[in-house]
Order: sequence, then C-alpha cells, then structure tokens
Amino acid sequence: MEKIALDSYAKVNLYLAVLNRRKDGYHSIKTVFERIGLSDKIILQSRQDQKIKIICSSRQVPKDQTNLAYRSAKLLQDNFKVARGVSIKIIKNIPVGAGLGGGSSNAAAVLSGLNQLWKLKLSQNKLAELAGRIGSDVPFFIYNTSFAQAQGRGEKIKPLKALERIKLWHLLVVPELHVSTPLIYRKWDEFNQKAGLTTPAYNVKILTLALKSKNPLLMRKFLFNALEEVTLKLYPEVIRVKEKLICLGAKATLMSGSGPAVFALISSGKEAVSLCNQLKKEFRFWQVFAVRTC
Ligand code: C5P
Repeated sequence: MEKIALDSYAKVNLYLAVLNRRKDGYHSIKTVFERIGLSDKIILQSRQDQKIKIICSSRQVPKDQTNLAYRSAKLLQDNFKVARGVSIKIIKNIPVGAGLGGGSSNAAAVLSGLNQLWKLKLSQNKLAELAGRIGSDVPFFIYNTSFAQAQGRGEKIKPLKALERIKLWHLLVVPELHVSTPLIYRKWDEFNQKAGLTTPAYNVKILTLALKSKNPLLMRKFLFNALEEVTLKLYPEVIRVKEKLICLGAKATLMSGSGPAVFALISSGKEAVSLCNQLKKEFRFWQVFAVRTC
C-alpha cells in the first residue's frame, strides 16, 4: 500500500466551559465536541526520500513546518525512525481558522493514515497521546465517534456513547474574519478578571440528557460557549450572524470554539438546505453550509 485517501471531518463545540488559566498558559476546559459532515480530503502518498511535502491549493493553508499535518508526519517519522517520507495532499472544504477544527482534523487524519501506510501498528490510545502533542483539538478526531466530552486543555477525550444515534441538523455560517485562538483566551483572562464572565449553571450530563430528549427548547437552554461572549465583544460581525439566524427562525445559535463560525440548531434537513440557499444569496461574504452530525 503506497497511497491512502481519508475523509477529514470538521467539529463544532456544543458546550465549552473555561475553568481556569493553567501555569503553562493553557486553560482548563470542559467541552462537548460534535463531528459534522463537512470534510476535507487527505491523500497520503508514500515517498522513497524522507521529505514531507504539503500540497494544497488554498492560500490560507501553510505549506511549511507550521502546518499541523506536516508536524504530525514529522512526529511519527522522528519517534519511530521511519526512513520514508510522504506527500500530503489536502483538498480543503473546511473554512480555515474558523473554530471548526479543520487543521486539527487534518493532523489526526495524517496520524491515523500514516499509522496504516507506514505499518506502525500504534494503538488508538497511543495515537491520541501523540495527537495531544500536536494540538488540544487533535485527539477528538482520532476517536471514531460523533460526540465526545473533553477535559484538560481539550485533549482528554471520553466518547459519548449514549448519543451514538443522535443526528442533529445545523445551519453553519462562517463570516469572513480571522480570529486568533490565543488572543480570545487572553481576552477571556482579561474580561474574567475585570468583570467576571458568565459561567454555566449546568454540566455536560444535563446537556447530554437534553440532546437525547431531542427537545429543541431544552437543547437551546444547555448549549454554551464561554468564549462566545469574548469573541462577540471583539467582532460585532459575529453578533450580526447570530441575529440573522434567529431572525430566520433558528431555535438556538452558538459560536464554535473561539469562532467566528456560528451554528444553529435546525429541525430538519429540508429546512437547513432551504435556509442555506437563502442565506448564500443574501450574504456573499459569509460561507454557509447545511450540515448534519456524522
Ligand atoms: O492546543 P492548541 O495549539 O490548538 O492551542 C492554541 C492556543 O490556544 C494555545 O497556545 C493557547 O494560547 C490557547 N489555548 C488555551 N487553552 C486551551 C486550548 C488552547 O489557552 N485549552
């Protein structure tokens, strides 16, 4: 086997509570990830030389050592003394730097794919441990699960098996903005020290029950993202996205990760697709998708 193609899915956070700033500069969080049916394609081609090459037509994707997919291949090469190299082709559909975990998902796909291509025989737990060294959001994508709870800085994963059969529909909107995750966490520190930020009065267990109930009113009540308040303060365009979604009749809206992507809970696929087409016509500078849990 010299070549392998993988789907690399995006995520949204249905819940994200920031607990505190750690000594290492990261923040302890509690989050719930949902994998969604918006994906990049990753094609790995083994090389006889030891080079790692990134091929991607998107100008927003770095082609050098800073690319998380590159770093994943290098980590495996160095740790397991692999004498081969790899060409990594990334066909990009997931908006870059949007809070949808695209780069992290690509990194996880490279770790899983090279485990096969290079016959490393690494366990899922070992891959997840290596993934955590690449980035906080990477381990989630190692597990083949639609929903998972995460703790630590986001790297400690517990798949939520109770939600296995749940399929949610979302309208996903990504305004044309670049939001830096470190900046949003820094501002969270600042705002939290000054005035105190909203903390959720419930936990992941309650959110899980709400999702299982499929009751939109309950779901709306328990969706939460502590970083949303911060990003909304800095980027009013994200408020406009939320207002527009509510105006269209969305039951609930929430920003994903540090943003700027915002998703809405929609009752059916038909409604999600129809609203998606409507929004695409009206807002040329927003990327809009109708997506489902996958
Ligand atoms: O882990 P990752 O490299 O994706 O994190 C990017 C940056 O986001 C970190 O350098 C840190 O500034 C911030 N971060 C954080 N707490 C987390 C996750 C990320 O402060 N739990």
